Formats: sequence, structure tokens, C-alpha cells
Amino acid sequence: MILTVTLNPAIDKTYRVQELVLGHVNRMKSIENIPGGKGINVGKILCQCSCPVTATGFLGGYTGRWIEERLKETGLVCDFVHIGADTRCSMNVVADNGYVTEILEPGPWIKPEERLVFFGKYRELIQKCDLAVLSGSMAPGLAEDLYADLIEIARDFGKRTILDTSAEGLVQGLKAGPWLVKPNRRELEYVAGHRCRSQEELLDAARNMLSDRAEWAAVSVGEKGMYLVGAKTALFAAAPKVDTVNTVGCGDSACAAFALSALKNEGPKQMLVRAVAMSAASASTFESGSVPLKLAQDLMDQVKVVSL
Ligand SMILES: Nc1ncnc2c1ncn2[C@@H]1O[C@H](COP(=O)(O)OP(=O)(O)OP(=O)(O)O)[C@@H](O)[C@H]1O
Ligand SMILES: [Mg+2]
Repeated sequence: MILTVTLNPAIDKTYRVQELVLGHVNRMKSIENIPGGKGINVGKILCQCSCPVTATGFLGGYTGRWIEERLKETGLVCDFVHIGADTRCSMNVVADNGYVTEILEPGPWIKPEERLVFFGKYRELIQKCDLAVLSGSMAPGLAEDLYADLIEIARDFGKRTILDTSAEGLVQGLKAGPWLVKPNRRELEYVAGHRCRSQEELLDAARNMLSDRAEWAAVSVGEKGMYLVGAKTALFAAAPKVDTVNTVGCGDSACAAFALSALKNEGPKQMLVRAVAMSAASASTFESGSVPLKLAQDLMDQVKVVSL
């Protein structure tokens, strides 16, 4: 079983409007709500792949209950800490003139006692799981080294972790040595402290993310494809061409693919093929946190891995 952790989930609201005008009343043409958050997306994709998965993190209020109900309908096992404050909403306003405006709430403040309950739950759950996927931003009130603590706890129980986050949460988490880290180019450059202008610079920065304990850095470079770097390995696979509809959440599909590979004990080449195929398939659907599995399977035959 896989455990996914989402510290700051959201109801993702997609509004459609003709044109969004600042300072005016804007009437939306339609609205669609789905449970959101990177860990939740990973969980939904794993569920689609018939992989047993438990989702944890923090949920609160009416919005939290709504997310939990929807997730249970999709077959995801939920074991969240219920907090006093309301889970946030994230708004995406898609206008007919092509502009997409995102309005992101900070999310509820997590109290110290709620954090403690979460750690107790995580300790219990990780023992029943093979691997934990730690994805997305920290919630307000949580320290930047929280992912580092979760990685250490998993290791104490002999369990692997996948880390997909940004900024200081990523920097601190790396110190604990996750089994695999999945930065995109921007996140890699944040950790490196400089732009990576050549492939050599990118590979160096990726190797610097590894330690005796962190085995793999999977650096995603959007529609170009993905690198997979280990102590003695550097691989690249170009992304196959698909009719791209929405690339938000492609990284989540890659993380789900790596979790599946870990369960199947696949080698690095096969891991990269699966991740690149599943994330390309995800780009072809509007909904993030969803992968057309037949397409992903077909794309696996097209992905070619090169050793660098
Ligand atoms: N247009 C595309 N066509 C095919 N594959 C794509 C496309 N965009 C992204 N991918 C695949 O998805 C992987 C992850 O994408 P990306 O680098 O954008 O991740 P990300 O920035 O972490 O995304 P997010 O955090 O929104 O999930 C890429 O390495 C690539 O293999
Ligand atoms: Mg990402």
C-alpha cells in the first residue's frame, strides 16, 4: 500500500467566464469543483491504477468534509486529521479571451496539537504502507522541516519516501534523504541557488541533491521530458508528443508512476519510461489528478531512454 500526504488540500474550483475584469462584478458562466492538492492527485491516480492507497494530511470544516466524501466515492481510503479551521478553496478563472487567473488561499493554520495528532497517525500508517509520497506545499503553522521529520520517521520503519515540494520545504526535506525527489527545473534551480543553463549544470545540480540516503533525483523539464539521476546513473527520456490540454499535475502523475515502480521493484530505465509515459498521458486530459491509462500504456512503447 502507498501512503500519500497532503498537508494543505483544497477544493479546486474552475470558473468559466467570458472576460475577467478587475474592479467589476464578474458573473461566471459555469463552475466545477474537484478535490485538489498534490498528494490527493497522486492518490487519485494510484487508485485509478488499482493500487491500494491511503490518503492522509489535514482536512477541516465543510470544505474538508466535501473533499473526503468525494475521495471516498473514488475508492480512496482516507485517514486525515480533522482540524478546527476550514480547508481552503483554490480558484481558477478560465476566460474565453485566453487568460487564466488563479486565486490561491493560504489555507488554514494548523495548531500545534493538531500537528501532534498528525505525527501519531503518520507513525501508525507508515508501518502499514510500503512507501509514502510527500507532495505539495506546507500549511500555515507548520515548520519547513516537517517533510524532513516525515522522511526520518519513514526510514526508522524501513520505508521509502518520494518528495515533491518546493522552496525551503524541499531544501530541508532533502537533508533527510528521501528515496526519490522530483523537482521541476525551477525547484532544482532554487536548491542549487543558480540557473542551470546547460545539461551539465542541470546534472550537477541534480547530483548535489543526492546524498548517501537520497537515491534518485527525477528532474522534470516540462514538455521536453525528464532526467533521472542517481549516484552512478544519469538518464534522459524525451516526452512523447500528445494533444496537450492541461499540463498542471503532470508532476503528480510522474510521482504516482515512481511509486508504482517502487512497488514493482523496477530498475531506473523502466521507472523513467513509466513516469514519462504516465505524465504525458496526463497532459492530454483537462482534469489534473487523472491519467488515461490506455494511452499511458501505449506511450510506454514510444518512450526511449538515453544514458548520458
Ligand atoms: N506538454 C507535454 N507533453 C508531454 N509530456 C509532458 C508535457 N508537459 C509535461 N510533460 C511530462 O510531465 C513531466 C512533469 O511535468 P513538469 O515538469 O511540468 O512538472 P511540474 O512542474 O512538477 O508539474 P506540476 O507541479 O504542475 O504537477 C515532464 O517531465 C514530462 O515528462
Ligand atoms: Mg511539481
